[in-house]
Parts: sequence; structure tokens; C-alpha cells
Amino acid sequence: MLIQPRIRGFICTTAHPQGCHQAVLQQINYVKQQPAFSGPKNVLVIGASTGYGLASRIATTFGAQAKTIGVFFEKAAEDGRTASPGWYNSAAFENLAHAAGFYAKSINGDAFSQGIKQRTAELIRRDLQQVDLVIYSLASPRRVHPVTGQVFSSVLKPLGQPFKGKTVDAFRGDIKEVSLEPATPDDVNNTIAVMGGEDWEMWIDFLMKENLLAKGATTMAYSYLGPELTHAIYKNGTIGKAKEHLLATSQQLDKKLKALGGQALISVNKALVTQASAAIPVVPLYISLLYKLMKAQGTHEGCIEQAYRLFKEKLYSPQGAVKDSEGLLRLDDLEMQAALQQKIAELWPTLTSANVEELTDLQGYRDDFYRLFGFNMPGVDYSQEVNPDVPLAV
Ligand code: NAI
Repeated sequence: MLIQPRIRGFICTTAHPQGCHQAVLQQINYVKQQPAFSGPKNVLVIGASTGYGLASRIATTFGAQAKTIGVFFEKAAEDGRTASPGWYNSAAFENLAHAAGFYAKSINGDAFSQGIKQRTAELIRRDLQQVDLVIYSLASPRRVHPVTGQVFSSVLKPLGQPFKGKTVDAFRGDIKEVSLEPATPDDVNNTIAVMGGEDWEMWIDFLMKENLLAKGATTMAYSYLGPELTHAIYKNGTIGKAKEHLLATSQQLDKKLKALGGQALISVNKALVTQASAAIPVVPLYISLLYKLMKAQGTHEGCIEQAYRLFKEKLYSPQGAVKDSEGLLRLDDLEMQAALQQKIAELWPTLTSANVEELTDLQGYRDDFYRLFGFNMPGVDYSQEVNPDVPLAV
């Protein structure tokens, strides 16, 4: 079939298998061009098919020769619909990793469920015996609790008072005012249940109980802090509460893992174009402005540059994990540079629909967004028919 992008709001409902393959290949090639590093041997990535999780899988495989098991929740192609991009990415990753001689296996299903934890445990026991790094990189709008069956939906809302701010319709280039009502206590609890640390802790407790964590094992989850202008919607909003819970969980897990000589960490990452971040009001406009300035400075990084730097320089640096005074790994160090943020704060109030294309990298945002779904990739002829059915052993 001919596959073209079909945008609905902030998602694209189609994905291109060859384009996703090219995007994964590009990330792999980036890592292969960097110096190798001494890192983990056996890695479990939960949320491994797109964004930061996929980049983490690629960086540890091709940068440190790690064996990886990836867990994700993606859709195969069916009834004239394409597969989801994470499906195509994972198929491409496995093919390319296997061709290079690396172990890589995947499990597709709901990571929040006990069944998927069980299947993952069996695969680790059979193939790797133990893992020495567990990356928790889930971003999900909902969670079915594995014990109570309760369904939680996460929301992106401010706390305490309504929020009014600027956001952009990235495809039309229109800047609009967005206004959001404050979260209810239930909204906060539901968002914490989905994006907080309970499921991460369940994973680690289970893997520990099953003796599947190697001596000295590390587990790491990802967070975001961002500048003042995103605080109402992010750091001080419902998602920020979930991230606080994730941080508190990392401290609990760190204590538990000390028994194995291991550690639990949070890495605070840069704002990047992913399916998860596209859904957050304000953030796409902020990213567009950030990218314009960081590209001009030569400090811009995408997922793979961030992931490689995370492992090479922050987590597996010769002196061990490089943490800030609060114990966090800071991959947002370049994003949060004071002079850069000062410039963003100055430009932000001046942004209008008339100047947004010039003052921000909205085109770069769109390009990155399309690439998440395998479109706009150099070397792919989108006028050719392709088979959407791509096999993936999961
Ligand atoms: P993403 O949307 O690209 O990836 C989410 C992953 O989770 C995918 O592999 C998806 O298959 C998997 N997933 C979702 N629900 C699942 C389920 N029920 N079972 C199994 N797998 C499931 O998201 P992104 O942006 O890479 O986010 C990952 C983490 O990084 C999140 O914790 C996010 O808050 C954090 N982060 C993201 C930043 C950004 O700007 N994108 C910045 C800083 C942190």
C-alpha cells in the first residue's frame, strides 16, 4: 500500500516501515561513529520501542555491546492499517542488531500487567540469567492496576488554579491561548498511578524476588524539570506530581538495591519531540524555540545524542554515576544553561503566529514529528507501495 502521514490532533495514525527502519539505522550509525564505552552487559528496557527507551536500547547495544530485552506496547499492521511506529522501529532494531551479532529480543504487551512481568522474567532467566541494567522509560495515558483491576487515566493539568498560556498548533503554525482548569484530587492520584513509580517498584521487587538482578545492578527512570514557563503545566502540574512520586520511588529502590551493591537513579532529560511530549500543551512551542537557539549554539541533541551521552558520560563514566547535589543525573544541563533560558524567557512573550516560523524552529519540530512515524526520512521513496506487514518476533 501507499503510506502517507495522516495527522489527527497531536498524533499521526499511520507509520512507514521503511522510514522507521531508516530512522533506527540513523541512530545506530550515530552511536557506531562515537567511541565505545564500558557499560552494562545485559539490559532490560521497559518502554523500548520509541523515544528515550529506544535510544537507550540502541546506545547500550551499539555503544557497549550489551544484550537487550525490550518491552513495549505496540500494534501490528491489520486490516489495511499500518503498524504503530514502535512496532516498525523494534523490527528494524532487531534486524540490525541481529545482523551485527547482538542478542536482542522483545516482548509486546502491557508492562503494567503481572503477565508481562512474568514473561519477561522467564525470558531473562532462560537467555541472560540476570540483568545488570533496568531502564524504565514508559509513557502511557492509562494503566490497569494489576492487583485491583482499576483503570487510571493520566491528565496534564495545572494544580490549584487555572492555567492560561501560549501553545502552538504545530502544523498550522497558529499560536493560541490555551486555558486549563486545575486538577481535581482524583486527577492527581490517577496521574501518579500511571506515571509515578508504583509500577517501576513492582518490576524491581519482582525481578529481585526472582533473583534476576545481577550484583551491582542499576535501575534508572527518566524525568523532566524544565524552565519556569513550563512549570504550571509540567513540574508543578499533575505530571510533576507523578515525577515527584517517581523520584521518591527511586530513593526507596536505591535502598533496596544497596543490598546487591546496586543503585536506582533518575536522569533528568532534555525536552524532545516524542509522541509523549507532543501531547503536552505549551511544550511543542517551547521545544521549537529551544531548538532554534540550541541549534544556533551547536548544543542541540536529539534522543540518541542524549542517550549516548547519558551512558558514556553520566552513568558509566570512569568515576561512576555523575550526580548533582540532589542525586540526579542531569542530561538537561545544556537545555537549562542560564543564558539560554534567559533568552527564551525574553523571546517567549514576543511569539505570535506572524513570527513563529522565523523566531522558532517550528519547521524542525514538524520534521522531527513526522520522523517519529517514519515520514520525511531521506532515502525513502514515499511514492512507492510498501508492505505494511512487518514481522516482529514478540
Ligand atoms: P514515548 O512515547 O516515545 O515512549 C513510550 C514507550 O512506552 C514506548 O516504547 C511505548 O510502547 C511504551 N509503553 C507505553 N505504554 C505501555 C504499556 N502499557 N506497556 C508497555 N509499554 C508501554 O515516550 P518518551 O518521551 O520517550 O518518554 C519516556 C520517558 O522519558 C517518560 O518517563 C517521560 O516522562 C521521560 N521524559 C521525556 C522527555 C521528552 O521530552 N520526551 C523529557 C524528559 C523525560
